[in-house]
Amino acid sequence: MNFLVTGGAGFIGSHVSERLLRDGHRVVIVDDFNDFYAPAIKQHNLARVQAVGGVRLHRADIVDKAAMDRVFAAEKFDAIIHLAARAGVRPSIEQPLLYTQTNVTGTMNLLECARAAGIRKFIFASSSSVYGINSKIPFSESDPIFKPISPYAATKLAGEALCHTYHHLHGMDMTCLRFFTVYGPAQRPDLAIHKFAKLIAAGKPIEMYGDGSTRRDYTFIDDIVEGIMACVRGKFGYEIFNLGNSNTVELRQLVGLIERALGRKAVIERRPEQPGDMPVTFADVSKARRMLGYDPKTKIEQGIEKFVEWFQRPS
Ligand SMILES: NC(=O)c1ccc[n+]([C@@H]2O[C@H](COP(=O)([O-])OP(=O)(O)OC[C@H]3O[C@@H](n4cnc5c(N)ncnc54)[C@H](O)[C@@H]3O)[C@@H](O)[C@H]2O)c1
Repeated sequence: MNFLVTGGAGFIGSHVSERLLRDGHRVVIVDDFNDFYAPAIKQHNLARVQAVGGVRLHRADIVDKAAMDRVFAAEKFDAIIHLAARAGVRPSIEQPLLYTQTNVTGTMNLLECARAAGIRKFIFASSSSVYGINSKIPFSESDPIFKPISPYAATKLAGEALCHTYHHLHGMDMTCLRFFTVYGPAQRPDLAIHKFAKLIAAGKPIEMYGDGSTRRDYTFIDDIVEGIMACVRGKFGYEIFNLGNSNTVELRQLVGLIERALGRKAVIERRPEQPGDMPVTFADVSKARRMLGYDPKTKIEQGIEKFVEWFQRPS
C-alpha cells in the first residue's frame, strides 16, 4: 500500500515509517522540520527511515494548503497516518495560536486533501490529554471528554471532532488513537524520560513538579507501532482507541528507574505543580485488545532499560 505519514521525521512517525517500509509498503513523509526541538534530531530520525529504503520526503508545512495540494497532486495514497502536530502541554499554553493552526487547521487541510483525492483511510494521532480532569480512572473511550485543561488537549479534541465529521459526511474510514505518554529510542527530548536522563547523566538537577506522586501510563514505542499497524490492517468506520500500557507509574518511581538504569543519582529540585498537567493518566485498553488484538508487552522496567541503552549509544 501507499502511505502518507505526516510528521514522519518525528519520534513516533519515524518508527511507524520504518515499520511500514519493512513490511513492504511505500511511504511518503510530509514534515516541516520545525524547531520545536532540534531539527538535526529529526534529520537523524529520517536517516534511520531512509536506511530501510523506499521513502519519499516532502518538506512542507501542513498548515500551507497550497503545499498540501501539491503533495497530493504529485503522489498517490491509499491511506494517511496523520501524526504531524505541535505536541506538548506546557508550550501550548504559551503558544495557543500556533497549536491551533497546526493541529486544527493542519488536520483540516489534510482531511480536505484526502476527501478531494478520494482517500478512504485516515488514522489520526490523538492523545490521552483529551480526558482532561476526568474523575474516573482508568480512562475509557466512552468517558465524556469535554473538560480538556490545555490548548494542546483542546486541539486534539477538535481533531477527533473533525475526523468524525469527515467520516459522517464522506464515509471515510477514520481511526483516532489516543496515545498515552510514548517513550523509547528516539523519544522527543522535551518529554520527561529523555529530559531527565540527559540531566541526570550530566550531573545536573532535574525539576520535579508537585510531590512526585503524579502518575502516567507510559507506553513503549514498539507497542504503539503494533497498535497502529493493527489499525492499518482493519476497517472500523469511525472508532477511537486508547493505546496505553494500562499501568501507571509515579513520577518519583520513574526517576528511580532512570537512576538505576544510568547508575547515577538524580539531584531533585522541587517545583509547584504546573497548570495544564494532569494528575494521572491511565488507559483502559480493553477496547483496543478486543478490536485490534492490541497487547502492550513492554513493562516500564524493561522499557527504561531499552531507552537508556539507546540514550548511551555512541552516536
Ligand atoms: N509522544 C507522545 O507521548 C504522544 C502522546 C500523545 C499523542 N502524541 C501525538 O503523536 C504525534 C507524534 O508525536 P511525537 O511524539 O512523535 O512528536 P514529534 O514532535 O517527534 O513528531 C511530530 C512531527 O511533526 C512535524 N510537524 C509538526 N508540525 C508540522 C507542520 N505544521 N507541518 C509538517 N510537519 C509538522 C514535526 O517536525 C515532527 O517531526 C503527535 O500528533 C502528538 O501530538 C504523542
